[in-house]
Amino acid sequence: MSKIFITRVIPEFGLNLVREHFPDCDIWADELPPSRAQLLERARGADGLLCLLTDKIDGEVMDAIGKQLKVVSSMSVGVDHIDVAAATERGIPVGNTPGVLTDATADQAFALMLSAARRVVEGERFLKAGKWVTWSPSMLLGADVAGSTLGIVGFGRIGQAIAKRAQGFDMRVIYHSPNSKPAYNAQPVDLDTLLRESDFVSINVPLTSQTKLMVNAEFLSKMKPNAVLVNTARGGVLDQSALYAALKSNQIFAAALDVADPEPLPLDCPLLRLENCIIVPHLGSASKKTRDMMALLAAQNLIAGLKGERLPNCVNPEVYK
Ligand code: NAP
Ligand code: GLV
Repeated sequence: MSKIFITRVIPEFGLNLVREHFPDCDIWADELPPSRAQLLERARGADGLLCLLTDKIDGEVMDAIGKQLKVVSSMSVGVDHIDVAAATERGIPVGNTPGVLTDATADQAFALMLSAARRVVEGERFLKAGKWVTWSPSMLLGADVAGSTLGIVGFGRIGQAIAKRAQGFDMRVIYHSPNSKPAYNAQPVDLDTLLRESDFVSINVPLTSQTKLMVNAEFLSKMKPNAVLVNTARGGVLDQSALYAALKSNQIFAAALDVADPEPLPLDCPLLRLENCIIVPHLGSASKKTRDMMALLAAQNLIAGLKGERLPNCVNPEVYK
């Protein structure tokens, strides 16, 4: 009988499928993720691990679980929390959930972009603070979205879905992404051109050793003074201190972040004191249907791995060579 550890309660859409195949699967029932020590203890001896992006799965964890570990399946598309190279070395396939969260995350990027441009969150705070005394020609003026230029850094699934939405806003779309082909009338440009010409810059790269802190002081200094930065990728891509300095000095107009580093963001983070910065708690894929589909894909990857079959979505297919 296979031993399975699932690091949190996931939507029943996926959980029921796992239970059909493995009725005795072990589920971490707390609201908070297991600590590293709890993970090491509880997952020991597992043949299959279904984890979330809140669980750091490195070689030490894999070794502590044991040589019988056949699959690591994450209910996320990003896999920066998993040492994929370590899994490959050990012959363990790693599964993720691409595609099913593309639209939800692109919608969230657009929601953030519009909110930051048109000062929606700031406007609500203004009203609730009793500052709305009259309509005024110069009250809370924002930036135009329609007809502006959107620069997308990382033109993969989500980047392209954002470009598709931008067509409806008559935006000019340019992108920087080493290997991606043009789509939705977007034109490839080098990064400096993108930063020089964009009114909105959307970050959609995975977090890797190349993209870590990619959005730093130099990157921000190349953006237009009216520009809005939107990050729905990973907090680790952005130097938050540099962003604070750029927003505080109005070097750029605003930022809207779905992700932070660390998560959760401590309440004393200076970015939280800025009116021109919106931060929400990693909600990119947070729609009911999307989370159901993510759970289903994660369950399918787990079950395939346990049966010795190829994972439907495998990030290290080299393990099959
Ligand atoms: P994807 O299809 O793999 O797209 C990522 C693109 O980034 C790739 O096409 C790649 O382009 C490009 N890229 C990689 N390194 C780059 C670099 N140094 N400079 C410029 N472009 C680079 O992945 P996706 O499904 O769109 O997801 C992207 C990321 O979004 C995920 O890895 C995850 O971290 C994040 N995400 C966040 C949420 C959320 O809740 N906020 C939800 C889903 C995903 P090339 O092909 O040109 O190399
Ligand atoms: C969410 O951030 C994901 O990578 O799925």
